Amino acid sequence: MSRSAKRTTSHEMTSSSERHDFLPGMTEIAREAGALLMGHFRQRVKVEYKGEADLVTVADRESEALIRDRLRQRWPGFEILGEEGGLQDTGSDYRWYVDPLDGTTNFAHGFPVFCVSIGLDHKGNRIAGVVYDPTRDELFAAEQGSGAYLNQQPIHVSKIANLAECLVGTGFPSHKRHKNPNIFFYHQITLHTHGVRRAGSAALDLCYVACGRLDGFWEFNLKPWDTAAGVLMVQEAGGKVSDFNGGLFQLDSRETLASNGLVHQPLLNEIEQVLAGNHLEPLPDLHGFRK
Ligand code: IPD
Ligand code: CA
Ligand code: CA
Repeated sequence: MSRSAKRTTSHEMTSSSERHDFLPGMTEIAREAGALLMGHFRQRVKVEYKGEADLVTVADRESEALIRDRLRQRWPGFEILGEEGGLQDTGSDYRWYVDPLDGTTNFAHGFPVFCVSIGLDHKGNRIAGVVYDPTRDELFAAEQGSGAYLNQQPIHVSKIANLAECLVGTGFPSHKRHKNPNIFFYHQITLHTHGVRRAGSAALDLCYVACGRLDGFWEFNLKPWDTAAGVLMVQEAGGKVSDFNGGLFQLDSRETLASNGLVHQPLLNEIEQVLAGNHLEPLPDLHGFRK
């Protein structure tokens, strides 16, 4: 059944005034899951493999089980799509997108950049999102039409309009990584900005665009649980999100470009140039570089 064709069941909330009740509950759940993650993080966990370089740990699974349980208790009947447990299809107009641990590779290596991400979609509209970084105790929250917040303080995207002065972020999905062209984008955009960060958590990267720590972010092949909350954060903080042609971003989009809005077109231009194979920098002469 398509997202928009679904019926609203009796126990679901529909009015916009009731919608504003989502964030407190979502925040509580994200904080509880974050505390669970920190318990495992301090002890270091065993790593398992879902793919060649696609890691998973007991922390991912326990965090998702906790989040699913708490979401069901508060909002019975809503659909839940979680990275580890898949889709619980209830026929509801509401669907949760849950990444119980975004940044698993960092987590597994003791690198303290990871988060919990919970987004809520209603008939194809992203209406609420929270992203919690338990290492810094930073809670990002946004609700459609109500702005974006970091630890309850309003946040806004940066005001930098010159791409050359930007700090931007990207990521490299673990799936089919040998086929991912992103290293070419990384190369070119590094040379045309203050730098590119690959911090290892797409949900946090998007939140960093929302609060102005990054001016832009792009990645290929993200999944809905990576983007559902973070994209709303960027939009509610005054930024822009599109695909790599500047078209409408959707949760099943395979391309995510987020920015402060001011450097969106310059970033689209960079992407277009790389895709066309234009102006690619040649491999430098190593001998000359060493001098
Ligand atoms: C990954 C992280 C990473 C991004 C990958 C994602 P996971 O999520 O967000 O930054 O580059 O594409 O898969 O696997 O740690 O939940
Ligand atoms: Ca993820
Ligand atoms: Ca994950």
